[in-house]
Amino acid sequence: MKPVNIGILGLGTVGGGTVNVLQRNADEITRRAGRGIQVTMASVRSMDKPRICDTSSITLTTDPFEIVNQPDIDVVVELIGGDTLALELVLQAIANGKHVVTANKALIAVHGNEIFSAAQKMGVTVAFEAAVAGGIPIIKAVREGLAGNRVQWLAGIINGTSNFILTEMRDKGRSFDDVLAEAQQLGYAEADPTFDVEGIDAAHKLTILASIAFGIPLQFDKAYTEGMRSLTTQDVSDAADLGFRIKHLGIARRTEKGVELRVHPTLIPEKRLLANVDGVMNAILVNGDAVGPTLYYGAGAGADPTASAVVADLVDVVRALTTDPENRVPHLAFQADALDDTAILPIEEVSSAWFLRIKALDQPNVLAGVTKILGDNGISIEAIVQKVPHHHGASVPIVILTHEVVEKAMNLALQAIGNMPEIEDDITRIRVEYLDPDQ
Ligand code: HSE
Repeated sequence: MKPVNIGILGLGTVGGGTVNVLQRNADEITRRAGRGIQVTMASVRSMDKPRICDTSSITLTTDPFEIVNQPDIDVVVELIGGDTLALELVLQAIANGKHVVTANKALIAVHGNEIFSAAQKMGVTVAFEAAVAGGIPIIKAVREGLAGNRVQWLAGIINGTSNFILTEMRDKGRSFDDVLAEAQQLGYAEADPTFDVEGIDAAHKLTILASIAFGIPLQFDKAYTEGMRSLTTQDVSDAADLGFRIKHLGIARRTEKGVELRVHPTLIPEKRLLANVDGVMNAILVNGDAVGPTLYYGAGAGADPTASAVVADLVDVVRALTTDPENRVPHLAFQADALDDTAILPIEEVSSAWFLRIKALDQPNVLAGVTKILGDNGISIEAIVQKVPHHHGASVPIVILTHEVVEKAMNLALQAIGNMPEIEDDITRIRVEYLDPDQ
């Protein structure tokens, strides 16, 4: 059978990796797909730039529209990133009846509903395995492998850059800026690294995971994001003293009140496997009612790992070329007309346990005042430690671990505690998750 012609938009790290993997493993890939898969065209920003792949058999162009409008191209692989030009190109490719493979999490998280609806009308597939956690086949696992489950929650380390920074800060005491610069050099960080450290990149990925896990439309604008820039080595060591590690987690949970969709620094028990995922590695813990907890670990970025996911999507698309569009795996795992409208909970309505560090003057009744305010707001204390002051007359750090409480109650309590004259106003507050399979 004649090979399938691929056009790649963007021949940078992932594009180059995709060409390399397709060339290196051509025989294996053909045996799996049933047909050869060949890159015939690729768009580049500059013709002169050095590449990580051999382009001698590829027609290069600086005009990406030439590829999406090229009749000989069967599948377009979008790897330019961003959500403006990429959106235009992907919609044009779909309108031209081409299948699309993309690694673009922002594009899918923000415009996925529109893209999938256009694709459905045209009977084409838009595949996006590489958009979440690089080489880990998490989309396939949740969408197909767990199809018999009611997924209760998932929690993941889905940004390698922020995990690398946290790991280096913890293990080597390195500064935030120093580690971030290294992640940029290694090619892991986003073009705008605030996307990594402010949780936006993770929220893009979490939005996609939540949709395929729960069968809800993509709602990136409702995701709560909190960065990890404010974390200190003191937080890390206080957490360790209590038996926890701090991770920048993406959490999606189905509750009776609605769906939680949140990215923030989180204390998790150090004995959890997820707590031991270090460096740039990614891992996602998915809890299904039938299977229980399942964990997926691997490289979340980089040329070959991300290419692994792109090529897996290409094989899927090629296998599906001759199938009836109605009988393909739905883009968001659930049939498009069966997505439900469960609301995403505002963060004030989310319940979690908390780690608090309050600095107080060492005077009678101060601790009693703090615990009374917590109690008055329905907040139960799980553990409390008052540390020795650094010197006589200095404020003392009080570290508190609370039981679960709805966030708006914690906000009220901390406002009242912050108003106490004996309390310094920089109260540290970090959510705690036990990742308990029974929750
Ligand atoms: N900037 C992302 C990360 C790359 O650090 O994980 C993969 O999406």
